[in-house]
Amino acid sequence: MANSSSLVFLFFFFFFYSTLATAKTHRFVRSISPSSLGLDKPQKLSQLHFFFHDVVGGTNQTAVRVAAAPSTDKSPTQFGAVVMIDDPLTESPESWSKVVGRAQGMYASASQTELGFLMTLSFVFTQGEFNGSTLSVLGRNTVLSAVREMPIVGGSGVFRFATGYAQAKTHSIDALEAIVEYNVSVFHY
Ligand SMILES: *[C@@H]1O[C@H](CO)[C@@H](O)[C@H](O)[C@H]1NC(C)=O
Ligand SMILES: *[C@@H]1O[C@H](CO)[C@@H](O)[C@H](O)[C@H]1NC(C)=O
Ligand SMILES: *[C@@H]1O[C@H](CO)[C@@H](O)[C@H](O)[C@H]1NC(C)=O
Repeated sequence: MANSSSLVFLFFFFFFYSTLATAKTHRFVRSISPSSLGLDKPQKLSQLHFFFHDVVGGTNQTAVRVAAAPSTDKSPTQFGAVVMIDDPLTESPESWSKVVGRAQGMYASASQTELGFLMTLSFVFTQGEFNGSTLSVLGRNTVLSAVREMPIVGGSGVFRFATGYAQAKTHSIDALEAIVEYNVSVFHY
């Protein structure tokens, strides 16, 4: 019967076609060895200590509100405010202290019951072996708590494959500037 041989042909055609298609769709992924990325070395644990300067006004403002909800200014927690930052990170609390990097990204008021920010930012380092390397922060910052903890979810440069956490403590605050002490502990290679 002509019909059954064409069915057999169709069956094999689709069988081979789908096998080929499956192989093709996975060609953008391949397995590599950890050593090809230098990951056969033991992980390092580093701790970074710096002061974050959030300047919300004045001539050298580094934090600007870029969005808000119609109800934000009536909210006791400024719920809905989004602030874009390019804040200097310094070695010691004084504003003339050596700049070691910047915090670039944004924070947004995400709690209706307390002052709690969602922080999504990069620490961009500009000194020595860390120059150009970044760490990514994504977490919750209840700024009135004595110590806040935020996850470090990744990094680049010397901080590739980074994981860890940041602890923040307010050093001082006035109408124009909040200075926050950070200790960041990260595993990286
Ligand atoms: C702003 O920055 C300039 C240049 O770094 C500096 O001379 C000036 O004192 C700063 N102003 C304030 C209010 O910090
Ligand atoms: C950091 O890297 C930038 C760009 O590569 C370079 O211009 C700058 O001089 C470097 N700074 C230090 C302190 O090494
Ligand atoms: C950071 O670590 C130093 C030394 O252990 C400690 O004195 C300081 O209180 C810590 N600061 C924060 C914000 O965790």
